[in-house]
Amino acid sequence: MSFIEYQDIIQDGDTAIVYLGHDSMFPVTIQHGSQTQTKYGVMRHSTDLIGKKYGSKVTCSKGGWVYILYPTPELWTMNLPHRTQILYSTDISLITMMLELKPGSVVCESGTGSGSLSHAIIRTVAPTGHLYTVEFHQQRAEKAMEEFRQHKVDHLVTVKNQDVCKSGFGMSHIADAVFLDIPSPWEAIGHAKSALKVEGGRICSFSPCIEQVQRTCRALEGHGFTEINTLEILLRVHDVRTIRLQIPDLGKPLEDQASPASDANDAPKPMTYSQDACSIFKSGVPPRETVGHTGCGVGAQRMATYGRMLDWALPLLVYRGAPRLALQSES
Ligand SMILES: C[S@@+](CC[C@H](N)C(=O)[O-])C[C@H]1O[C@@H](n2cnc3c(N)ncnc32)[C@H](O)[C@@H]1O
Repeated sequence: MSFIEYQDIIQDGDTAIVYLGHDSMFPVTIQHGSQTQTKYGVMRHSTDLIGKKYGSKVTCSKGGWVYILYPTPELWTMNLPHRTQILYSTDISLITMMLELKPGSVVCESGTGSGSLSHAIIRTVAPTGHLYTVEFHQQRAEKAMEEFRQHKVDHLVTVKNQDVCKSGFGMSHIADAVFLDIPSPWEAIGHAKSALKVEGGRICSFSPCIEQVQRTCRALEGHGFTEINTLEILLRVHDVRTIRLQIPDLGKPLEDQASPASDANDAPKPMTYSQDACSIFKSGVPPRETVGHTGCGVGAQRMATYGRMLDWALPLLVYRGAPRLALQSES
């Protein structure tokens, strides 16, 4: 199986997602003869999984059931083994849009980390684009390569084990976009500029602290990038709730009323509600609180900075937030 194509049938060697509920999923490598324990009992790969369709409901040994899902990059982001902090789909969607990624794009990224963003980029630039990802931690670089091979996307990605701030991306003027998620992105801006195509490109950096954002903005300006912006993306998940509202007594219909002129006592009356008459309906309810910040650090909010280099490149700087701040929503 490949993360960039879809296949109907579960096969030996696949990475599948076992779905127990919205907030309970895990990845499993399908292997003849293996079995997987869940709270609903055991699943035997050879008899319960291999040969079944992705999306099937599979009954476990205690009688409960799970779904077996095909792994999309979004499901992988929710389930991957964390070796570092990772980027989640809300930020990934903004980054993908602001970097203008599309099939055929060539992208340089550092660091690879746990490969959450890398999988999303690879899926977007396939089948003709390429991701060059640089990670200076040897085991992380090796593990990422192993996962890309296992997920059959290794032909779309090159992993380099080096320090991007010292050695750059190892190539010049081939990238449509550069993405940085490292502690000192300002030290890599010169290398990012060398990696971008001569005719232009976009750059984005993601940082936990406002001081990092400021230094990166200065480096971007120093290297000739323009229209640098910082922005924040907040996720507001609406709950579906059953709402019960009393129906107001709006008075008699107009045709049943005497003319206004003939009723001298027709002063406005306070609205009354019938005790029994209720309207019950389902509605989407916005959250009362919104998480505005993730990661660790002090006092800022999650936001992104992006900008334009008129004749050369369009940079985008994303700012990873520090502690979790609950912001009151306006409503
Ligand atoms: C926050 S993680 C990146 C997470 C990644 N964006 C994801 O979504 O999974 C930062 C990674 O950058 C790597 N790193 C830090 N400084 C680096 C440098 N100068 N060159 C290359 N990699 C670096 C770290 O080892 C770490 O794995």
